Amino acid sequence: MATKLKFDDGMNYERETFMNLMLTPESRALRHLFISQRAASKIEDVPSDTPQRNIGSIAVIGAGTMGGGISMNFLNAGIPVKILETKQEALDRGLTVIKKNYESQVKRGKLKEDKYQQRMSLLSTTLSYDDIKDADLVIEAVFEEMGVKQQVFEKLDQVMKKGAILASNTSTLDVNQIASFTKRPQDVVGLHFFSPANVMKLLEVVRGEKTAKDVMATVMSVAKKIKKTAVVSGVCDGFIGNRMIEQYGRQGGFLLEEGCTPQQVDKAIEKFGFAMGPFRMGDLAGNDIGWAIRKRRYVEKSNMKYSKTADLLCEMGRFGQKVGKGWYDYQEGKRDAIPNKEVEDMVVNHRKTMGITARKISDEEIVQRLVFSLVNEAAHILEEGIAARASDIDMVYITGYGFPIYRGGPMLYADQFGLFNVIQAMQRFARNPLDDASFWKPAPLLAKLAAEGKTFN
Ligand SMILES: NC(=O)c1ccc[n+]([C@@H]2O[C@H](COP(=O)([O-])OP(=O)(O)OC[C@H]3O[C@@H](n4cnc5c(N)ncnc54)[C@H](O)[C@@H]3O)[C@@H](O)[C@H]2O)c1
Repeated sequence: MATKLKFDDGMNYERETFMNLMLTPESRALRHLFISQRAASKIEDVPSDTPQRNIGSIAVIGAGTMGGGISMNFLNAGIPVKILETKQEALDRGLTVIKKNYESQVKRGKLKEDKYQQRMSLLSTTLSYDDIKDADLVIEAVFEEMGVKQQVFEKLDQVMKKGAILASNTSTLDVNQIASFTKRPQDVVGLHFFSPANVMKLLEVVRGEKTAKDVMATVMSVAKKIKKTAVVSGVCDGFIGNRMIEQYGRQGGFLLEEGCTPQQVDKAIEKFGFAMGPFRMGDLAGNDIGWAIRKRRYVEKSNMKYSKTADLLCEMGRFGQKVGKGWYDYQEGKRDAIPNKEVEDMVVNHRKTMGITARKISDEEIVQRLVFSLVNEAAHILEEGIAARASDIDMVYITGYGFPIYRGGPMLYADQFGLFNVIQAMQRFARNPLDDASFWKPAPLLAKLAAEGKTFN
């Protein structure tokens, strides 16, 4: 258009259009993310001139889903990796998956054959700890059981050279306790990769009580080398991302009980901009993982309320995409989520046993309950110092959980929505007897900021 006008009019037209675009929430969100990404790499008490340890070689313990993906990140960056397992079969399986991944990239023209060979030449495997003792950084990705982690870290403490960084990829376990299995807790840190680890941008760097500053500085710079967005998290159950997603998942369950279908919830939040809704996400990640966590919760936090629907789904063996059925059905080799009548019946029957009459729920309510559940938990996380800044939480959600980029993350979204309005919505949700009123009590930080007319960011 500007080119069709006289020069000055064209310039004016461009300027006016630019100003209008600059004032949109989308523009604000993208600028926010630009700044947030840079901010996330800084740690207040770890100045940029903190000496770093040299990281020239990596060892990975466990060649499963995560171990393989984690290894690929370093191979891609030209850093040699040695994977350790307990059995040769497990090593062979892991190696085959890595090869298949690369080969599919070669087939799709995303990777040159010689680059593939070069990467594979940097990879070696072993069954013996003796072979990894000289690695500069070792990343453990074995089963999510404290007993197994203990065995591995006691062994690492015995064999690893002095100054090696000992990292755990645990998603839920206490990194301080893991550090306590060694006599060098200052060298222990959490490196929480997301699945698929060779694809997902997010890396939560979990700082233990005793993690040394130079270890933090080193792993933040390693993250950059392997092209991850690193966000520092303190130690708590689920760290930043998964602790919040648990609340979001709980709301998804309540929405089913009150009258929604999985596809209605997913569609509403996908229309808001999420890459996928909670039920498609559950199917992708494996519903059995959430089931295992809830079983632990029923014992440890018996007053926490959950919808039974996800447990009933797992009892039906519907673990998700890996078995071709979860909240939806999946056809071999395809990722399309096809609604399933058995699942709908299960939800309807469950409502009956609970004596609930289904009501029509608007997309607006679905989106607000899902997004504000993230926001309220995030406010607790911020207040407890688990996250250093609100914008770090936004980075976690944009790079790890498919939150729409153009909305800038949950915290910026809440800021733009108005924290006072967020609290009013929460108070409405708290009056719903089928929801969890205690959860919707606004976090003290949120209440304070709203009262002062301030924002998170
Ligand atoms: N799968 C995910 O989405 C995901 C995401 C983030 C973090 N994690 C965490 O990553 C870790 C691994 O998860 P995963 O999904 O890759 O599991 P997995 O079951 O696919 O792989 C675990 C591997 O560890 C090996 N192993 C078990 N004990 C061992 C030992 N003592 N020494 C050496 N190897 C041993 C097993 O043979 C297996 O190959 C867990 O702590 C998990 O919580 C998983």
